[in-house]
Amino acid sequence: MKAVRIRTSPSLALVKYWGKLTRGRNLPATPSIAVTLGGLDTATVIHTRSHDQPDEVRLAGQVQEPARFEPFFTELRRRLHTDLHFLAYSDNSFPSSAGLASSSSGFAALGLGCTCLVSNHGCDTPVMPDQVLTALASELARIGSASAARAVYGGFTHLPAGAKRAERLYGPEHWPALRILVAVTSTAPKADSSRSAMERTRLSSPYYGPWIHDAKVVCAEALIALDRQDLQRLGELARLSYLRMHASAMAAEPPVLYWLPASLGVIQACATLRTKGVRAWETMDAGPQVKVLCLDQELGRVRQELADAVPGLSFIEAKPGIDPDLGEWHPQREPDA
Ligand code: PMV
Repeated sequence: MKAVRIRTSPSLALVKYWGKLTRGRNLPATPSIAVTLGGLDTATVIHTRSHDQPDEVRLAGQVQEPARFEPFFTELRRRLHTDLHFLAYSDNSFPSSAGLASSSSGFAALGLGCTCLVSNHGCDTPVMPDQVLTALASELARIGSASAARAVYGGFTHLPAGAKRAERLYGPEHWPALRILVAVTSTAPKADSSRSAMERTRLSSPYYGPWIHDAKVVCAEALIALDRQDLQRLGELARLSYLRMHASAMAAEPPVLYWLPASLGVIQACATLRTKGVRAWETMDAGPQVKVLCLDQELGRVRQELADAVPGLSFIEAKPGIDPDLGEWHPQREPDA
C-alpha cells in the first residue's frame, strides 16, 4: 500500500487533561475522559516518501511547521523499524487551531495512517491486527498531542494519568441520545497553544498542584456518571473539570485567558437554561468556543436559546462519533510534490 485515506474526529474532553508529567514524553499529569465528536471531520491522505525526502504535513494546503511533527515521526520510525518518510494532506470540516481539538483528530489520523502504511509496506514489520495497530497508533499520536491518543477511537475514551495510550470505554451506542452543541464564538486561530499554556500553568500557577490532585477525584466520579448515562451528574463534573482547569491556567504568569465575552455569554445562557429545567452543561478547552452537552430532544431548544442570548454565534451539532475510517487511497492525480 502506497497511500491511505483516513477520516477522524476530534476528541472532546468531558474531564480535562491539562499538564504533563516531568518524566516520559508527553505523558498526561491528569486523567481525562472524552467523547469523540461525530459531525466534525478531519480528512487525511498520507503517502509514503523515501528516506531522503522530508516529512511534510499540509493542513488546508498550508505546509505546517516541521518541528511540530518531528518528535512524532522520529518515534514512529523508531518503533516501527522503518526509514520511510511521509507526506500528509489534511483538511478539517471545522475551524482549525481554534480550541476545537483539531490537533487530536490530526495526530490520530497520522498515527493510524502511518502505522497502517508501514505495517503493509513490505518492510520488517509484520501486518498487525487492528487492535494492536490502534493501540500503537494511540501511543504514537500521544507524542504529537496527548488528546490525540483518545481520538483513535470513536465513542467514549479514557486516558489515565501517566498512561502511554488511551483506552476505549464505550462505543457510540452507549449513549446515542447525547448531543454536543458547539457554540463557535470566534474562528480566529488562538494565540496561546495548549502546549505552551499548560506548561506555563505547571511552572507558574499556585493552583497547579491542587488541580492535579483534584482531577483524579473528579475523573473517578465522572466514570460512574458516564456509565449510568447520568447527564445531570456528568454535566456537573464536566463543569467542575473545565472551570478548575481554566482557574489554574488563569492564575499562571503570564495568565492564560481563552475566554471571550461571547464565551461567558454562552456559559450564562446555559445556567439560565438549567434554571428552566433544560439539561445543558457547558465545557471549554484551550480556546474561546463553548461545547454544550445536552440530549437529542432538547438540542433545538438549547440552540435557539443560545442564539437568542448571544448574537453572532455559529453552531456545529455533534454526537458520539464512530471509529475512524481508514482505507487504501487511490489517486485521482499524483501528489504535486
Ligand atoms: O492534546 P493537547 O496538547 O492539544 O491538549 C488538550 C488540552 C485540552 O483540550 C484543553 C483538554 C483535553 O483533554 O483535550
